[in-house]
Amino acid sequence: MKISVINGPNLNLLGKRKTEIYGKETIVDIEKWMNSQPVTKGHFISWFQSNHEGNLIEKLHSLIDNVDGIIINPGAFTHYSYAIRDAIEATNLPAVEVHLSDIHKREKFREISVIKDVCINQIYGFGKEGYLKALETLISIKDAS
Ligand code: DQA
Repeated sequence: MKISVINGPNLNLLGKRKTEIYGKETIVDIEKWMNSQPVTKGHFISWFQSNHEGNLIEKLHSLIDNVDGIIINPGAFTHYSYAIRDAIEATNLPAVEVHLSDIHKREKFREISVIKDVCINQIYGFGKEGYLKALETLISIKDAS
Protein backbone atom coordinates (compact mmCIF):
# COMPACT_ATOMS: atom_id res chain seq x y z
CA MET A 1 0.00 0.00 0.00
CA LYS A 2 1.00 3.61 -0.50
CA ILE A 3 0.36 5.60 2.67
CA SER A 4 0.90 9.27 3.43
CA VAL A 5 1.59 10.30 7.03
CA ILE A 6 0.74 13.95 7.56
CA ASN A 7 1.69 15.93 10.63
CA GLY A 8 0.48 19.43 11.42
CA PRO A 9 1.74 22.43 13.34
CA ASN A 10 4.35 22.22 16.08
CA LEU A 11 4.99 18.54 15.47
CA ASN A 12 8.35 19.53 13.99
CA LEU A 13 9.23 20.40 17.61
CA LEU A 14 8.74 16.87 18.91
CA GLY A 15 11.63 15.97 21.19
CA LYS A 16 11.84 19.55 22.44
CA ARG A 17 8.22 20.48 23.08
CA LYS A 18 6.43 19.36 26.26
CA THR A 19 8.47 16.15 26.44
CA GLU A 20 6.49 15.02 29.49
CA ILE A 21 3.45 14.79 27.18
CA TYR A 22 4.88 14.13 23.72
CA GLY A 23 8.07 12.22 24.57
CA LYS A 24 11.70 12.79 23.77
CA GLU A 25 11.77 11.45 20.24
CA THR A 26 11.79 13.72 17.23
CA ILE A 27 9.48 13.27 14.29
CA VAL A 28 12.40 11.81 12.31
CA ASP A 29 13.07 9.32 15.14
CA ILE A 30 9.42 8.26 14.97
CA GLU A 31 9.55 7.92 11.19
CA LYS A 32 12.71 5.77 11.41
CA TRP A 33 11.20 3.65 14.19
CA MET A 34 8.07 3.11 12.11
CA ASN A 35 10.09 2.09 9.06
CA SER A 36 11.92 -0.49 11.18
CA GLN A 37 8.68 -2.22 12.21
CA PRO A 38 7.93 -5.51 10.38
CA VAL A 39 4.34 -4.45 9.60
CA THR A 40 5.64 -1.68 7.30
CA LYS A 41 7.44 -4.20 5.05
CA GLY A 42 6.17 -4.07 1.49
CA HIS A 43 4.39 -0.76 2.03
CA PHE A 44 5.49 2.62 0.77
CA ILE A 45 5.08 5.18 3.56
CA SER A 46 5.96 8.85 3.10
CA TRP A 47 6.00 11.47 5.87
CA PHE A 48 5.10 15.15 5.58
CA GLN A 49 4.94 17.93 8.17
CA SER A 50 3.86 21.54 7.89
CA ASN A 51 3.00 24.36 10.25
CA HIS A 52 0.75 25.93 7.60
CA GLU A 53 -2.89 25.06 7.06
CA GLY A 54 -2.77 25.80 3.31
CA ASN A 55 0.26 23.54 2.81
CA LEU A 56 -1.50 20.73 4.63
CA ILE A 57 -4.58 21.21 2.45
CA GLU A 58 -2.51 21.25 -0.76
CA LYS A 59 -0.68 18.14 0.37
CA LEU A 60 -4.04 16.40 0.96
CA HIS A 61 -5.23 17.43 -2.52
CA SER A 62 -2.05 16.02 -4.07
CA LEU A 63 -2.86 12.59 -2.58
CA ILE A 64 -6.05 12.15 -4.60
CA ASP A 65 -5.63 9.06 -6.84
CA ASN A 66 -2.02 8.75 -5.69
CA VAL A 67 -2.12 6.90 -2.36
CA ASP A 68 -4.22 4.20 -0.72
CA GLY A 69 -4.65 5.82 2.66
CA ILE A 70 -3.83 8.70 4.97
CA ILE A 71 -2.58 8.84 8.54
CA ILE A 72 -3.01 12.35 9.89
CA ASN A 73 -2.07 14.11 13.10
CA PRO A 74 -3.32 17.64 12.41
CA GLY A 75 -2.02 18.98 15.76
CA ALA A 76 -4.15 21.85 17.03
CA PHE A 77 -5.93 22.13 13.65
CA THR A 78 -7.78 19.00 14.78
CA HIS A 79 -9.88 21.11 17.07
CA TYR A 80 -11.08 23.81 14.68
CA SER A 81 -9.99 23.48 11.04
CA TYR A 82 -13.06 22.79 8.94
CA ALA A 83 -10.85 23.45 5.91
CA ILE A 84 -8.64 20.46 6.77
CA ARG A 85 -11.75 18.43 7.51
CA ASP A 86 -13.16 19.23 4.07
CA ALA A 87 -9.82 18.49 2.37
CA ILE A 88 -9.64 15.04 3.99
CA GLU A 89 -13.21 14.35 2.89
CA ALA A 90 -12.44 15.58 -0.65
CA THR A 91 -9.65 13.03 -1.05
CA ASN A 92 -12.18 10.18 -0.78
CA LEU A 93 -9.40 8.15 0.81
CA PRO A 94 -9.50 6.19 4.05
CA ALA A 95 -7.90 8.39 6.73
CA VAL A 96 -6.97 7.64 10.33
CA GLU A 97 -6.64 10.45 12.87
CA VAL A 98 -3.72 10.04 15.28
CA HIS A 99 -2.71 11.92 18.43
CA LEU A 100 0.34 11.12 20.49
CA SER A 101 -1.32 12.32 23.69
CA ASP A 102 -4.67 11.39 25.19
CA ILE A 103 -6.70 14.35 23.93
CA HIS A 104 -9.61 13.21 26.11
CA LYS A 105 -7.64 13.66 29.33
CA ARG A 106 -6.24 17.15 28.74
CA GLU A 107 -7.76 20.61 28.28
CA LYS A 108 -11.45 20.59 27.30
CA PHE A 109 -10.80 22.16 23.89
CA ARG A 110 -8.68 19.15 22.87
CA GLU A 111 -11.61 16.77 23.25
CA ILE A 112 -13.26 18.23 20.17
CA SER A 113 -12.15 16.90 16.82
CA VAL A 114 -13.75 18.45 13.75
CA ILE A 115 -12.02 15.87 11.54
CA LYS A 116 -13.19 12.77 13.42
CA ASP A 117 -16.26 12.18 11.27
CA VAL A 118 -14.26 12.11 8.02
CA CYS A 119 -11.79 9.57 9.42
CA ILE A 120 -12.35 5.85 9.81
CA ASN A 121 -10.76 5.83 13.25
CA GLN A 122 -9.35 8.15 15.93
CA ILE A 123 -6.30 6.84 17.80
CA TYR A 124 -4.97 8.78 20.78
CA GLY A 125 -2.80 8.33 23.84
CA PHE A 126 -0.46 5.64 22.49
CA GLY A 127 2.46 7.90 21.63
CA LYS A 128 4.33 6.85 18.49
CA GLU A 129 2.59 3.45 18.59
CA GLY A 130 -0.51 5.29 17.43
CA TYR A 131 0.99 5.75 13.95
CA LEU A 132 1.60 2.00 13.73
CA LYS A 133 -1.93 1.22 14.92
CA ALA A 134 -3.23 3.58 12.24
CA LEU A 135 -1.22 1.73 9.58
CA GLU A 136 -2.59 -1.59 10.83
CA THR A 137 -6.12 -0.19 10.56
CA LEU A 138 -5.52 0.89 6.94
CA ILE A 139 -3.99 -2.49 6.05
CA SER A 140 -6.88 -4.37 7.64
CA ILE A 141 -9.57 -2.43 5.79
CA LYS A 142 -7.70 -2.94 2.50
CA ASP A 143 -7.41 -6.69 3.19
CA ALA A 144 -11.13 -6.84 3.98
CA SER A 145 -12.16 -5.10 0.72
C1 DQA B 1 -1.69 16.47 19.34
C2 DQA B 1 -2.76 16.98 20.32
C3 DQA B 1 -3.20 18.37 19.94
O1 DQA B 1 -4.18 18.84 20.86
C4 DQA B 1 -2.03 19.32 19.98
O2 DQA B 1 -2.43 20.61 19.58
C5 DQA B 1 -0.87 18.84 19.19
C6 DQA B 1 -0.52 17.43 19.25
C7 DQA B 1 -1.14 15.09 19.77
O3 DQA B 1 -0.46 14.47 18.94
O4 DQA B 1 -1.34 14.66 20.90
O5 DQA B 1 -0.16 19.61 18.57
O6 DQA B 1 -2.28 16.32 18.07
